[in-house]
Amino acid sequence: MKKLSLLALALAATTVLTEVEMAFAQSPGATIEQRKAVMKGNGGAMKALGPMANGSQPWNQATAIQALDTLAKNGGETMTKLFPQGSGPTSGEKTAALPAIWEKWADFQAAAKGQADAATTLLALARANDEAGFKSGFAAMGRACGTCHEPFRAKQ
Ligand code: HEC
Repeated sequence: MKKLSLLALALAATTVLTEVEMAFAQSPGATIEQRKAVMKGNGGAMKALGPMANGSQPWNQATAIQALDTLAKNGGETMTKLFPQGSGPTSGEKTAALPAIWEKWADFQAAAKGQADAATTLLALARANDEAGFKSGFAAMGRACGTCHEPFRAKQ
C-alpha cells in the first residue's frame, strides 16, 4: 500500500515536471497564444459575472461558481508561468506584455495572485449562495484585472 502511494506520488511529480518543461520548451509565440487564450477566458468569465453583479441579469449560482472557479484557477502561478523570460516585446511576436513585467516580477506575481485571491473570496460567497455579498464584493474582481493591466499591459 505504502509502495503504491509512493509510486503514485512519483508519477504525479513526473507529470507536473513535464508540464513545466513544456511551458518553457515551446516557442514564445505559442506561449503568447496560450496566455491570450487564458486572458480571453478571464474576459468571458467577467462578461458572465458583470451583469449579475449590476442586476441586469438575474443571479445564477451555478454560472457564478463556474466563472469564479475559472478566474481563481487562471490567476496565480497558472498566469505567471505563461510569462517566461523572453516572451515580451523582444520576442518579435505580437504582444501587449510590457517589459515592466520582468523588471518588476515580484509585483507582477502579486498582481497575478491578486486575481486568484479576489476570485477565491467571491467563490466562497457564490458557493454559500450569498448573492448580496457577491454583488457588494464584485468591484474587487475588476480592480484585480486593472491592477495588472495598468502597469504591465500596453494600451490597445
Ligand atoms: C498579473 C497580470 C494580469 C492580470 C491579473 C490580468 N491580466 Fe489580462 N492581460 C495581462 C497582460 C500582460 C496582457 C497582454 C498579453 C499579451 O498580449 O501577450 C493581458 C491581456 C488581456 C486580454 C487581451 C487578450 C488578447 O486576446 O490579446 C484580455 C481580454 C484580458 N487580459 C482580460 C483580463 C481580465 C478580464 C482580467 C481579470 C479577471 C485580467 N485580464 C487579469 C495581464 C494580466
